[in-house]
Amino acid sequence: MTLEELEQGKAASLAEIAAVTDAAGVEQLRVKYVGRNGSIPALIKAMKDVPKEERPAFGKAVQAWRAEVEAALAAKGAGAATGGAKAEDVDATLPGRWAAPGVEHPLSRVIADTARIFGKLGFTVADGPDIETRFNNFTALNTPDHHPTNDRTDTFWIDSAEIRGEGTARTAEDLLLRTQTSPVQIRTMLANKPPVRVICPGRTYRRDTTDATHSANFHQIEGLYVDTKPVSLADLKSVLAYFAKEMMGDSVTVRFRPHFFPFTEPSVEVDFSCHVCKGKGCSVCKQSGWIEVAGAGMVDPRVFKHVGWNPDEVSGYAFGFGVERIAMIKYGIPDIRWLYENDLRFLSQLV
Ligand code: PHE
Repeated sequence: MTLEELEQGKAASLAEIAAVTDAAGVEQLRVKYVGRNGSIPALIKAMKDVPKEERPAFGKAVQAWRAEVEAALAAKGAGAATGGAKAEDVDATLPGRWAAPGVEHPLSRVIADTARIFGKLGFTVADGPDIETRFNNFTALNTPDHHPTNDRTDTFWIDSAEIRGEGTARTAEDLLLRTQTSPVQIRTMLANKPPVRVICPGRTYRRDTTDATHSANFHQIEGLYVDTKPVSLADLKSVLAYFAKEMMGDSVTVRFRPHFFPFTEPSVEVDFSCHVCKGKGCSVCKQSGWIEVAGAGMVDPRVFKHVGWNPDEVSGYAFGFGVERIAMIKYGIPDIRWLYENDLRFLSQLV
């Protein structure tokens, strides 16, 4: 085929396409010209027989023909997307293709939501290491060396005289896996000047036997607010009430029950009203209408002394809650182990 014949062939094909009026005709011409065995692909295959010096010009002309024919066909409604199929051939009731998008893990979500909620109140996020000293995890938090939580049966110790088999001497530098996020309170106060307003999410470790509600490794979020102006228990309650509503829904309220923690005085345990039964009593709240979620209280003056702050000049509150606990009640998860098994059949339900 000469270049001239090629131009004629192109003109004829375009005229043919311009004249066609129905979809079946368009499809026929698509097959005839650009289909797998169509005449334009045949020309491309035949290129090897074209004299070498004519090949570039010939090739260009064939490509231009193909482009023009495809454009003309597309303008007539023959589309690659439908592969030339007619509208009535498309079954719109077939399920779409599943793209399997990832979802945020419920624990990550609770932590991110908490940071966002407290962020609105001016709290920033503070961080601390999982391996702590006895001083930060216990002593500075007014928990004496003889307190049972210091014991080897409750805490994962990493380094101490006892671990090394060198006797029973206890020092401030002994190392352990933190049993709570409260040592980040100490780090924050040692590194800053009042006022401080932080939340500290992180992993915590205890020698607990794993069951549906316990895990040797879980997460807490600590909160600490200390200021040179007076801070009261009512401030703490209002902040936690705000958090409860933002996290669990508008109907949720908080109640305080007297409790004891070595590092707060007074200390309270914090309950949220049950978001499922709205306080009437159901299986989630064990018929009580309330769910225990946090420990809290006013920072004990002894803690301020340990970090070198004058308890007559500052006051503040602290709270700490379990991330797993919030996730379990919020998403109705009955077994804490589900949060660690990474079973997609479970995780992907929490979209
Ligand atoms: N650290 C405490 C616990 O793990 C919780 C707590 C934090 C209590 C802050 C009071 C203030 O049980």
